[in-house]
Amino acid sequence: MNFRGRDIISIKDFSKEEINYILNYSKKMVSYAKGEGHIEKLKGKVLSSLFFEPSTRTRLSFESAMNRLGGRVIGFADPTATSQKKGESLSDTIRMADAYSDAIVIRHPQEGAARLAAEFADIPILNAGDGAGRHPTQCLLDLFTIITEKKKIEKQKVILLGDLKYGRTVHSLAYALSLYGAELIFVSPETLKMPKEVVNECKELGTEPHSTSNLEKAIKDADVLYATRIQKERFPDAEEYNRVVGTYKIDNHLLKNANDKLIVMHPLPRVTEIDPEVDRTHHALYFKQAFNGVPVRMALLSLVTGEKI
Ligand code: NCD
Repeated sequence: MNFRGRDIISIKDFSKEEINYILNYSKKMVSYAKGEGHIEKLKGKVLSSLFFEPSTRTRLSFESAMNRLGGRVIGFADPTATSQKKGESLSDTIRMADAYSDAIVIRHPQEGAARLAAEFADIPILNAGDGAGRHPTQCLLDLFTIITEKKKIEKQKVILLGDLKYGRTVHSLAYALSLYGAELIFVSPETLKMPKEVVNECKELGTEPHSTSNLEKAIKDADVLYATRIQKERFPDAEEYNRVVGTYKIDNHLLKNANDKLIVMHPLPRVTEIDPEVDRTHHALYFKQAFNGVPVRMALLSLVTGEKI
């Protein structure tokens, strides 16, 4: 299996065997990600971290991953401090990062931006979220979290909750869960349903997602509840956002009806979707999930830059 030099733009670019390989590789990175061992596989390598949109977990876990591997990171988290402010194009910015580093991680508000970047760079491009498009590295850490907790993905009943229209994490995850034969239940406000394109991708893989608005009933026999934030920044008008924000809230009262083994996941940041009281329950997995970003991104950076452990 060869990942050297490959871009990670969409989870759809990877076969199930390749995803399994990445997930197994990630497992080997866990102790290094915790700082328990020392590894210098990417010593002398440089990662460009280009964040045109806000980020906490994705950017910091990529940086942590690169540092844990002995590599270094250059880049920006605020594009207004770059020559973009002077009118420079995305393609020219990418050409520069291509000249200065060994891999580029990019987050951008426009769907398709990472794919475009890949056309202008010879080094690997890792898509850290392109608008309401896709988020493949988040998807891999989500899969890693489910496999670690549940031992398998096949036949798991997974609820995808919240903003299924604009949420890029659920676009990637719905496809990947279908690839593994999970059962999908979509719960969202009427105006924020999963795009037809994604539903069709699931169907092509043999999964028929169910939709419901009754979360209380759905959690009774679900294995995973994956909640998302309503993506305020993608709404064309504030009033529409105000109408749907707060539609669903996960709290201890709701979880009384849940299957005891239910795990609650969330890519974070949460706003109002999960009451902090849930943090202390055995259902809460979102912080562990966020940690898993480090080993998974360590594996990805090692693989695309061609290093073996
Ligand atoms: C998500 C994103 O940026 O798409 N966060 C993340 O990467 N962990 C989800 C979100 O912003 O709501």
